[in-house]
Amino acid sequence: MKDSSIVHSSPNIPSKDTILKFLREKNLSEGKIIHSMHVAELALKISDEVIKDGMPVDKKIVEAGGLLHDVGLSGFRDKDLKEEIANPSPEHCVIGATIASDANFPDFVVECIESHELWSESEAKELGFPLPIKGDYIPKTWESKIVAYADLVAFVTALGYDLLKDPNAVIESSYIYRNQCFEKATGKSIGRDHPIIKRVDKFNNEMIKYLNQEFITKY
Ligand SMILES: [Fe+2]
Ligand SMILES: [Fe+2]
Repeated sequence: MKDSSIVHSSPNIPSKDTILKFLREKNLSEGKIIHSMHVAELALKISDEVIKDGMPVDKKIVEAGGLLHDVGLSGFRDKDLKEEIANPSPEHCVIGATIASDANFPDFVVECIESHELWSESEAKELGFPLPIKGDYIPKTWESKIVAYADLVAFVTALGYDLLKDPNAVIESSYIYRNQCFEKATGKSIGRDHPIIKRVDKFNNEMIKYLNQEFITKY
């Protein structure tokens, strides 16, 4: 994991069209490709706010990370949100990171994919992620934080919550998904005070200042 204070020079990143072609070759569903384009677009808008705040952000990494973040779901047919939550695959973060790494995408892009759901090392073990588990899958760079946040905003909004007006939106929507991940993998429910829920809530509190109502109305 890289430190968020590092300023990166733009590594060799393929164009948006080349990345979309790659996703289709990998057989990512069209619904997920549309979602990924929304996440990338939202992530770029958030990037501008983070940059205005004086933080170093490489927008090419953000765009590629947004487009590729769900590549680990390649091969799955399109599901509606209800169906997707009922049968979650949280390990798609690390599966996607391996796919992107094997295709020689730069490490900073791979990190955006790997960490976009903020799972800790112990949670990854409990949920049965593929071995070896490398440690925490929590975003550390600005680029990976922005991609993870754009995906969170898209998810909360798709569930019908208004993230900027409803103080319970992040906890309630995260709980629906994360609890289902644990129930499916371990047969046990978690509480709203579980570390993953607290981590996502804290992450939202850190990032919400970069969100603007006009960014999210269409997601
Ligand atoms: Fe995802
Ligand atoms: Fe996503």
